[in-house]
Amino acid sequence: MARGRYLVEGPMHCFDCHSEVNWKAPGAPVVPGKKGGGAPFPMDVGFPLNVPNITPDPETGAGKWTDEQLARAIREGIGHDGRRLFPLMPYMKFRVLSDEDLASVIAYVRSIPPVHNALLATPLPEPVKISLPPPAPITGPVPPPDFSNPIKRGAYLVALGNCVTCHTPVDQQGRPLPGLDFAGGQILKGPWGEVASANITPDASGISYYNQALFLQTLRTGHVRTRKLNSIMPWGTFRNMTDQDLNAIYTYLSTLSPVVHRVDNTEPPALCKECGSQHGYGDRN
Ligand code: HEC
Ligand code: HEC
Repeated sequence: MARGRYLVEGPMHCFDCHSEVNWKAPGAPVVPGKKGGGAPFPMDVGFPLNVPNITPDPETGAGKWTDEQLARAIREGIGHDGRRLFPLMPYMKFRVLSDEDLASVIAYVRSIPPVHNALLATPLPEPVKISLPPPAPITGPVPPPDFSNPIKRGAYLVALGNCVTCHTPVDQQGRPLPGLDFAGGQILKGPWGEVASANITPDASGISYYNQALFLQTLRTGHVRTRKLNSIMPWGTFRNMTDQDLNAIYTYLSTLSPVVHRVDNTEPPALCKECGSQHGYGDRN
C-alpha cells in the first residue's frame, strides 16, 4: 500500500489527470473530495476525451473492475470494457512498471475514497483509432527495476513520470519530432494558460546550468530560483518523491544527449524553425 501510494502520488501522478484539478493554485492540487473521480481532459486533443473515474465507486468508478482489468489498462492500454485507450493515458511508458509495482498501484487505487461521478467513456474517432500504437500484450513477468545505480533508477522514474511526452515538441498530428527528445517547445494550452515545455537536456539552451541542489529545489518548490513554473508542470506531485529518487532523475537527465533548442517562456512567442511552433526565443533557433 505504501509503495502504491508513493508511485501514484509521486512519479506516476495519476490524479493530475484523473481528477478535477485547481489549475490556478500553486502545484495544481486536486479539488478536495474529487481525487480520482475523473474529469474531462482539459486540453483540446481534437475530440472530446474524458479521463475516467478510477475510484472504487461501484456505479461510476472502478469498484467492479477486476485487478486484471486495471492491470491491462495501466500497462497495455485496454480499458475495462475492452476498448483501446487513447495514448494520453501513459500506458506506453507504464509498460516498464514491474509486476510488484503494478500490484502496489492497484492496491492503493482501490483504497482511496469512492467518488460518485458519472462520466461517459469517450469513443475515439475512427481515424484516431487507426493511428493508435498496435496493441502489445505483456505476456511474461515484468521484473523489478534495476536500481543498481542512480542512472538506471532515474531512467525508470523518468519513464513513469512521462517527462518525455510533455518535454518533446510534436508535429501537427501530435507525433514527437525526431531528434528533439526532452528538448522542449511543446505548447500546452488549457486552464493553466499557454506555455511551452522546457528543454531539459544538458545543453546550454537546456538545464546544463543546473546542479543537483537546484534541481531538487525546482521540483520541490515549482520555482527555478525566483522564476515560477506554470502549474501544468506536475511539480506539485513530483515533489512527493524522496531526495534519492529526485537526485536519480537529475543524474539520468544529465546523461541525455544535449540538444540545442532555446525555449524561454519569459520571452514573447516567436516562430521556431527547429520545432515549428511559436515559443519564447523560437526566433533564436
Ligand atoms: C497524462 C494523463 C494521465 C495519467 C498521468 C494517467 N492517466 Fe489513466 N487515463 C488517462 C486518459 C485520458 C484515459 C482515457 C483514455 C480513453 O478513454 O481512451 C485513461 C484511462 C485509464 C484507465 C482505464 C479506465 C477504463 O475506462 O477502463 C485506467 C484504469 C487508468 N487510466 C488508470 C490510471 C492510473 C492508475 C494512473 C497512474 C498510475 C493513470 N491512469 C495515469 C489519462 C491519464
Ligand atoms: C504535463 C506536462 C509535463 C510533464 C509530464 C513534465 N513536465 Fe516538466 N515542464 C513542463 C512545462 C510546460 C514546463 C515549463 C514551465 C514554465 O516555464 O513555466 C516544465 C518545466 C520543467 C523544468 C524547469 C526547466 C527550467 O525552465 O529551468 C524542469 C526541470 C522539468 N520541467 C522537469 C521535468 C521532469 C524531470 C519531468 C518528469 C519527471 C517533467 N518535467 C514532466 C511540463 C511537463
